[in-house]
Amino acid sequence: MDAITEHIPVLYEEVLNLLQVRPGQVYVDATLGGAGHTKGILERGGLVIGLDQDPEAVARARALGLPGLRVFQRNFRHLKEVLQEAGVSQVAGILADLGVSSFHLEDPKRGFSYQREGPLDMRMGEEGPTAYEVVNTLPLEDLRRILLDLGEEKQAHRIAKAIVERRQKAPIRTTLELAEVVRRAVGFRKAGHPARKTFQAIRMYVNNELGALEEFLRQAEEVLAPGGRLLVITFHSLEDRVVKRFLKESSLKILTKKPITPSPEEVAKNPRSRSAKLRAAEKEVA
Ligand SMILES: C[S@@+](CC[C@H](N)C(=O)[O-])C[C@H]1O[C@@H](n2cnc3c(N)ncnc32)[C@H](O)[C@@H]1O
Repeated sequence: MDAITEHIPVLYEEVLNLLQVRPGQVYVDATLGGAGHTKGILERGGLVIGLDQDPEAVARARALGLPGLRVFQRNFRHLKEVLQEAGVSQVAGILADLGVSSFHLEDPKRGFSYQREGPLDMRMGEEGPTAYEVVNTLPLEDLRRILLDLGEEKQAHRIAKAIVERRQKAPIRTTLELAEVVRRAVGFRKAGHPARKTFQAIRMYVNNELGALEEFLRQAEEVLAPGGRLLVITFHSLEDRVVKRFLKESSLKILTKKPITPSPEEVAKNPRSRSAKLRAAEKEVA
């Protein structure tokens, strides 16, 4: 890892302060990634059950050989199952730091980037269709809905139509081919790359990100020990809405009336943190 690709944990101090790590207690890091937050929990004496659906992230985390960390290659929608396997019934805290890790984004062969040539894949784990299948086989109306609902893309119809017209000539095979189809359909955009929302929407669909998040949240509420805390960091409004609504309807006590966001200093150091929002809640002591 060099300085550019090294993953910088988002809202690191805020997460560790809110988790109130107690030595010897078990915590879940549901999105292990580069294990940045996990290292903080371990340093404070906590034990960690770490999940990641990505085989590369899991291999890297295992290679660190951190004492006190047990690693599971699983989607966090299987949280309860994992805890059963680990022989743990309740945990003192749970963290989920959603989104794509910079390792993924920077690896062109994973197909997440509209700026680097790669195959249209976008799977974070080994489940689900590839982006290639989504782009080249779904009916126009399904594509339009995905772009609208998961990308909040105002030009969803225009883009879906352009994708269908283009694939009638030849399949759309690569990230840059797709980005170019979108760019031609919508033209230049002042705010960011014209294909950004399209790529976000397809990635979320491929990985059923909102569905997995809802299942995870319900299970997290169940497995927290009394006084245990759930922390979730989101990176866009759709995810934040799911978390906010869930916490409101759950039995948990909300600790963050407004979400915690990174300081200007953190954003300057780590631009990826720009849109991060941290929400936290606590299981009441009966
Ligand atoms: C932003 S990174 C986490 C970074 C980590 N907190 C750190 O400090 O290094 C998100 C990670 O979550 C994983 N991930 C995303 N959705 C997941 C899911 N539904 N189940 C399991 N892992 C998931 C991704 O593979 C990625 O490695």
